[in-house]
Amino acid sequence: MINFDQNATTPVDEAVLEELIRATREFSGNSSSGHTLGAKAGKYLRECRERVAKLLNAADADEIVFTSGGTESDNAAVRGIAYGMRAEQGRDEVVTSAIEHRAVLAPCDWLAKQGFKSTVLPVDTNGVVDMGALRDSLGPKTALVSIMLANNEIGTIQPIAEISRLAHDIGAKLHTDAVQAVGKLPVDVQALGVDSLSLSAHKFYGPKGVGVLYLRKGTPCECFMLGGTHEGGRRAGTVPLPQIAALAKALEVSEEKRIKHGAELRTLRDQLIAELTAKVPGTHVNGSLETCTPNTASIRFDGVYGGHLLRRMDEEGILASAGSACMWEITKPSHVLTALGLSDEEGGGTIRFSLGYGNTAEEVTQVADKLAKLVPELRAQPIEK
Ligand SMILES: Cc1ncc(COP(=O)(O)O)c(C=O)c1O
Repeated sequence: MINFDQNATTPVDEAVLEELIRATREFSGNSSSGHTLGAKAGKYLRECRERVAKLLNAADADEIVFTSGGTESDNAAVRGIAYGMRAEQGRDEVVTSAIEHRAVLAPCDWLAKQGFKSTVLPVDTNGVVDMGALRDSLGPKTALVSIMLANNEIGTIQPIAEISRLAHDIGAKLHTDAVQAVGKLPVDVQALGVDSLSLSAHKFYGPKGVGVLYLRKGTPCECFMLGGTHEGGRRAGTVPLPQIAALAKALEVSEEKRIKHGAELRTLRDQLIAELTAKVPGTHVNGSLETCTPNTASIRFDGVYGGHLLRRMDEEGILASAGSACMWEITKPSHVLTALGLSDEEGGGTIRFSLGYGNTAEEVTQVADKLAKLVPELRAQPIEK
C-alpha cells in the first residue's frame, strides 16, 4: 500500500507508540488525585506540558491546554474567545476565511445564530486570504480573527504574523488552526504572534483523540467543557496522560523530522508533480507551490471524476483523497476548491496527494506510472458518479 493521504492522518511513529505504552503502564493514577499515584501522574503531566510549551515557544507552560484533538481545540477557541471578548469588551464580530476547516467554519456559523456577526473572507486562486477584504472587515467590534496556518486540502500557508498584527492593531484576538502545520512548518507562537492555536497529534505521527489548544495568557476564553477544574479550569474531564505523553513525544519527533528531512519531503512532492505532469497529459496543479506546505499537491486531471479515480487507485493499493478525509462520501467539490474559483468539473477532477516522512522516490514513480494508465482508461469511459 502506498499512503499519499497523510494529511488525513499519519501512522503513529514507533518511538511515540513506545511512549504511549510506557506511560499507560507507568502512570495509572489520575493526575488530579492527591495521593502518591496521582501526584506521580501529575508531575509527569507537568513535564509534558513544559515540553510542549518549549517546542511551541510559549512563554508559560500554563498556556498549554490539552484537548481531544483539532476539532475540539478549534471549537473551544472560536466559541470561547468570541464569548470571552463579548463579555469583557462588548465585541461581537468574528472574521474567518472561506477555506478554513469545518471545525472553524461551523462554530463561526453557530456564533452567527447566537447574534454575533460572522464574516467569511474570500481567498485568491492560490487560497491566500484577501488582505484588502480582511482590512475592510476589521473594526472596533471585532472580537476574533480565525485564519488557519496551513490548509489541509491544498496546503496554502497564510501570512499569519501579518494577519495577527492587523487583528491586534484594532484590539482583536487571533486564533490559528495549525493542525496541518506541525512537521511541515515551524510552529512558533511568538513568531506567529497568535493568541490561540490548535494542534492535533494524529496529524504528526501521534495517536488520535488528543490535541493542544495554546491559549496566550490574558486571552479571554469562556470554557465550554464544564464539570471540573482540570486544565486550569479551561477544559473539564479526566486528563488522558498516556495520550498526552505520546503527543509530547510526537511533537519532538516530528520537529526533528522536519529539521532533518523537511527538504527531502518537498523534493518528493515536487518529483510527484513533475512525473505526473510529464506522464499524464491534461494534469494541472491547484494553487501555488510557493505558498504551499512541502508535502501537499492538489492535482486536477482533465476529464476525470476524482471519486472514480480514487476508487481505482485504492484497488491498485494507492491511497489519496478528493479533499479532506471527512469529505470522502460527498460528490460535490469541497468548499475549499470552490473558494479558489474552480468549476464543479475542475474541482470534481481534483485529487489531494499528501506525503509523509515514510514515503519514497520509488513510490512516487510507481504512483505516476499507475496514473499514466488509469487516467486515460477513465477518460475513455463515460463519467459515472
Ligand atoms: C486543518 C484541520 N483542522 C482541524 C482538523 C480536525 O482535527 P481532528 O481530526 O483532530 O479533530 C483537521 C483534520 O482533518 C484539519 O485538517
